[in-house]
Amino acid sequence: MPLDFDAAPKIEVRDLHFAVGDLEILKGITLSLVPAEILCVMGVSGGGKSTLIRNIAGLIRPTGGEIFIDSTEMSRLSEDELIPIRAKMGVVFQYAALFDSMTVYENIAFGILRGPRRAQYNKSSHLAIARMVAQRLREVGLPGIERRLPAELSGGMRRRVGLARALATEPEIVLYDEPTSGLDPVTAAFIDDLILRTRERNNVTSIVVSHDMGSIYRIADRVLMIYEGKAQFYGTVAELKASQDPVVKQFITGSTEGPIQNQQGHVARKR
Ligand SMILES: Nc1ncnc2c1ncn2[C@@H]1O[C@H](COP(=O)(O)OP(=O)(O)OP(=O)(O)O)[C@@H](O)[C@H]1O
Ligand SMILES: [Mg+2]
Repeated sequence: MPLDFDAAPKIEVRDLHFAVGDLEILKGITLSLVPAEILCVMGVSGGGKSTLIRNIAGLIRPTGGEIFIDSTEMSRLSEDELIPIRAKMGVVFQYAALFDSMTVYENIAFGILRGPRRAQYNKSSHLAIARMVAQRLREVGLPGIERRLPAELSGGMRRRVGLARALATEPEIVLYDEPTSGLDPVTAAFIDDLILRTRERNNVTSIVVSHDMGSIYRIADRVLMIYEGKAQFYGTVAELKASQDPVVKQFITGSTEGPIQNQQGHVARKR
C-alpha cells in the first residue's frame, strides 16, 4: 500500500524520556508515522518497548519530550482532555488483559458499552453490537465463542480476543504489543494478515512490537530498534537488512556473539 510520506504525521514522538525514580527506561526516542504506516518496534527484553506503547497510549506520562496524535500534544493534557485522543486508539496489550468475570462478548463490547462513545448507543443498537462482536471474532478466527469466559480459553485464544477487543471500535490507530508471541507460526501469520487487512480497510496507523523477524519483514514500513533506552536503528526494512551496525546485526540474526551481552538490556547493566 503506497504511503504518503509528505502527509501530516498521524503519530509523532519527539525526544521521549521515561524514568521511574532514577531508573531511566527511555532516553530520547523520536519517531513519526504518516497515516496508514506500520512501524515495528524491536529490542531486547526489558528494553522499554511496552513502556513506549504505554506512553503513546496515554496510559503513563512521559518524564520528558512530546507525543503528538494528529498534531495534538498529549503529555500535558488533563485526563478528561485525553479521552477523545484515547478513543482514536486501540491497544493490544502484551498480556491479554481480559476481564475474567466478563464473557468474551462483554470483553469485546466493553469499549462500546462503557467507552467514551457509549452515549451513541442505545438498546436498539445492541443488535448492531452483537453483529460487530460476531464479525470481530470471525476476523480473529474464533467464531461463535461469545458466551465463553476467559478462563475457558487457551493463551492464544485469549490473545486473539484481546485483538478483537482492540479493533472493536474501529480505531484510527492500533498499538499492538507483541500480538503474535507465543502463537504457533500459522496463527501468527494469520495475525500478520489481520494487521495488514486492518490497515487496508480503514487506513489504520499501527505500531507493532515484535521479536519475530519474519513478521517484521512482512508487515513493517519502518522499523525502530530500541537499545539502551535509545533508537539504535530507525529506518525501512531494506535499510535494516543492509545495516552493518553490530548491535542490529546480532539482534536480527539472534546470535549470542556480539555487543548485546545479556537478556536484561540497559536496565540491568545500569545498576
Ligand atoms: N512502572 C515501572 N516501575 C519500575 N520499573 C518499570 C516500570 N515500568 C517498566 N519498568 C522497567 O522498565 C524496563 C522496561 O520495561 P518494558 O516492559 O517496557 O520492556 P519491554 O521492552 O517491553 O520488555 P519485554 O520484551 O520483556 O516485554 C524493565 O526493566 C521494567 O522492569
Ligand atoms: Mg514488553
